[in-house]
Amino acid sequence: VTATNIAMVDLHAQQRRLQPGLERAIAGVLAHGAYILGPEVRELERQLAAFAGARHCLSCSSGTDALVLALMATGVGRGDAVIVPSFTFVATAEAVVLAGATPYFVDVLEDGYLIDPGEVDRAMAQIRAQGLRPRAVIPVDLFGHPADYGAIEAIAKRHGLIVIADAAQSFGAQQSGRRVGTLAAVTATSFFPAKPLGCYGDGGAVFTDDDVLAGVMESLRVHGKGRDKYDNVRIGINGRLDTLQAAILLEKLAIFAEEIEARDRIARRYSERLAGIVRTPAVAPGSSCVWAQYTIALAGRDAVAERLRERGVPTAVYYPKPLHAQTAYRHCPRSAGDLPVSTRAAGVVLSLPMHAYLEEATQDYIISALRGSLR
Ligand SMILES: Cc1ncc(COP(=O)(O)O)c(C=O)c1O
Repeated sequence: VTATNIAMVDLHAQQRRLQPGLERAIAGVLAHGAYILGPEVRELERQLAAFAGARHCLSCSSGTDALVLALMATGVGRGDAVIVPSFTFVATAEAVVLAGATPYFVDVLEDGYLIDPGEVDRAMAQIRAQGLRPRAVIPVDLFGHPADYGAIEAIAKRHGLIVIADAAQSFGAQQSGRRVGTLAAVTATSFFPAKPLGCYGDGGAVFTDDDVLAGVMESLRVHGKGRDKYDNVRIGINGRLDTLQAAILLEKLAIFAEEIEARDRIARRYSERLAGIVRTPAVAPGSSCVWAQYTIALAGRDAVAERLRERGVPTAVYYPKPLHAQTAYRHCPRSAGDLPVSTRAAGVVLSLPMHAYLEEATQDYIISALRGSLR
């Protein structure tokens, strides 16, 4: 294998496999012309709910809007604090601000960078001391690993917090025999193209077992619609998923379980061959991972990334700056400990090429290039 054309996520390989079905699906939408909330949207929601084992799935325009819908539907707003890990993509905190509430940043665990349940517990008193009402927590399933929902649920119950899962990176994963989509009161996911299940544009979905919440989110998704189309009963958003994207997702969902297996096989192969050389990601007992990213940790990360680039191996840093240090979020309240793990993580993480079509020879090249880059 030479170093040409190694991709972080090879969407073309998947497209070659799905080409005829995708073309049929797209042509079908062009033929019926129901571009907004067409039959493919309902069918996708039915299949996604079944896949997750959730009572309700509602597709929407992005993972960000999925979080906004979940927060709006649960009544989170002004004066409320929503506990968010600092080491995540900006949308987790942005949605909180868009809903009118205040993100309260807590730190993540050293091993795996998922939200630290102990931090959630400790945050309660600190939030009240700042005159805010602790209302909800958004665990993030970073890189495809479900957060520790058992521990978080116990703390949330004790304090009356709503748990909203940011599963943008983890749809398809499981914990304790349950799929992502059923691990929290409401779950938000993303179908951004590079996600394990991605469309060809922006898209997302929310999951819940709660009939009332599902009804409210359906209304919010279309401007807060009521029974009568021209009597809107609440303030909502324009948050629908396009029918074309739903048609594309239906084709991709048909092979998703198989792709999850392939991703897991590839991740295990990385871990076997990189053990003892760099810090490799571990899957928690009782959980599975869909490997939205395969992320190692190492000293001298930037120099190694540069040497890999010279050898034709792309890498990415998710995330180089924790949210509490970003310009728009610097003023937000945060845990008394000042988030040392999030800060350290930003300096050492490195994500390697990861997708279901990564061939062994290519992976071997990446691994030997990495070994050669560690000096
Ligand atoms: C953790 C996390 N939350 C939220 C989002 C937002 O999803 P989207 O880009 O579909 O709005 C993403 C992905 O981009 C994400 O990785």
